[in-house]
Amino acid sequence: MSSTHDIKDIQLAEGGRRRIEWAEREMPVLRSIRERFEKEKPLQGVRISACLHVTSETANLMRTLQAGGADVVLTASNPLSTQDDVAAALVSVYEIPTFAIKGEDNVTYYKHIRAALEHKPHMTMDDGADLVSSLFFIAMGRFDRLEPSLAAWAQGLSAAERQSLLDGVVGGTEETTTGVIRLKAMEKDGVLKFPVIAVNDAMTKHFFDNRYGTGQSTIDGIIRATNVLLAGKKFVVAGYGWCGRGLASRARGMGAQVIVTEVDPLKALEAVMDGYEVMPMLEAAKVGDIFCTVTGDLNVIDGHHFEVMKDGAIVSNSGHFNVEINIPALEKMSVGKPALVRPFVEQYTLKDGRKINILGEGRLINLASAEGHPSAVMDMSFANQALSAEFMYKNAAKLQKKVYSVPTEIDAEIARLKLEAMGVQIDTLTEEQVKYLASWEEGT
Ligand SMILES: NC(=O)c1ccc[n+]([C@@H]2O[C@H](COP(=O)([O-])OP(=O)(O)OC[C@H]3O[C@@H](n4cnc5c(N)ncnc54)[C@H](O)[C@@H]3O)[C@@H](O)[C@H]2O)c1
Repeated sequence: MSSTHDIKDIQLAEGGRRRIEWAEREMPVLRSIRERFEKEKPLQGVRISACLHVTSETANLMRTLQAGGADVVLTASNPLSTQDDVAAALVSVYEIPTFAIKGEDNVTYYKHIRAALEHKPHMTMDDGADLVSSLFFIAMGRFDRLEPSLAAWAQGLSAAERQSLLDGVVGGTEETTTGVIRLKAMEKDGVLKFPVIAVNDAMTKHFFDNRYGTGQSTIDGIIRATNVLLAGKKFVVAGYGWCGRGLASRARGMGAQVIVTEVDPLKALEAVMDGYEVMPMLEAAKVGDIFCTVTGDLNVIDGHHFEVMKDGAIVSNSGHFNVEINIPALEKMSVGKPALVRPFVEQYTLKDGRKINILGEGRLINLASAEGHPSAVMDMSFANQALSAEFMYKNAAKLQKKVYSVPTEIDAEIARLKLEAMGVQIDTLTEEQVKYLASWEEGT
């Protein structure tokens, strides 16, 4: 692809610009980084290919990288998460090449990843590791693992061209839990070819983004798609990790009776002590009215669970990939094709007449039918992205082909800036306290 963009409609740009500016009001930390980047240009001439959800918050991250001197290209990290008006504004107002269309099919999704690779990045920025995994498969000549049209393009490159694509990258960053898990698996298998910073592992990321961001926006997505009343409903949360904790607490706050399913005894115990009912999915499936998976795992809701679900059950996912609900199994158990009964609600009819409603094709519902995380949490996540990109570019030569945590100083600085922006002051240790906390001699 030689074009500078592939988006739905450039005419949507004005609405997108307003939305980006609205988000910016809630992103003071990222704004302060942008102001510094404008002066210092720490990313001057650095080509960055970003594969992220194309939302108004991401647009503000792209503006920040651009202000730092980077030459940025943006592609979607999920076929359903793009805000088309934001994509239009990125292209026409901010002159950032963008390749993303809400509802794009798999072929288009990977055509857009190809555009990100054709940018010959010095750095990658991923949300789910689709960009780096495509790059590694290309460099390794593992064309069978690529989407066919991307494979055909890659096979048209010489071995030297494929290698130079990889050699050009000094490092990357990764946004989400699932991406970090994939990257750590790559590191273990020896196929990770450059250092990557796991932005997700920063405390100022997952404490807030995964918990409060996913918690609120997933409820928002379910409500926008269905308009159901949560009060009094049995709401099943699969997975009590960072996202699950946030989702469970927000569902309870809306009056739902929350049931948690887990595979980790510690997390399950925590859920019990937090006051939730905990049971296996097969039991929860019989009683639940609304289901949401947030595990990062495969087939968490499977055929045998659909077998016992109540008529009218609402089933959704907010984990990264659309594999948590086994939709192919549901298709096989259903009569005819599902009916689109509302936008983002597909109703499957089982052979005994029961109806099961799947939201947003099983893709992350907070981005499919709502707007993703509120800007105030993405402020911290993307401040981590911007500062990690700066850190990576400065230090890549010293780093190994490993997954690195965000440096603790960056985490602490973001927390400090966020508190400052919120007008919250805290105490500082006195000299006496510093000494006391560092000594072993003081006791009873
Ligand atoms: N929707 C969003 O915007 C958004 C935001 C952040 C993260 N995510 C994604 O959400 C997923 C979860 O992220 P997290 O940070 O909460 O991860 P986490 O590792 O903190 O939690 C996942 C939990 O799921 C549990 N689990 C695994 N398999 C299970 C199964 N079969 N049944 C029940 N529980 C199971 C694990 O034991 C763990 O406690 C990931 O895919 C992540 O990428 C989505």
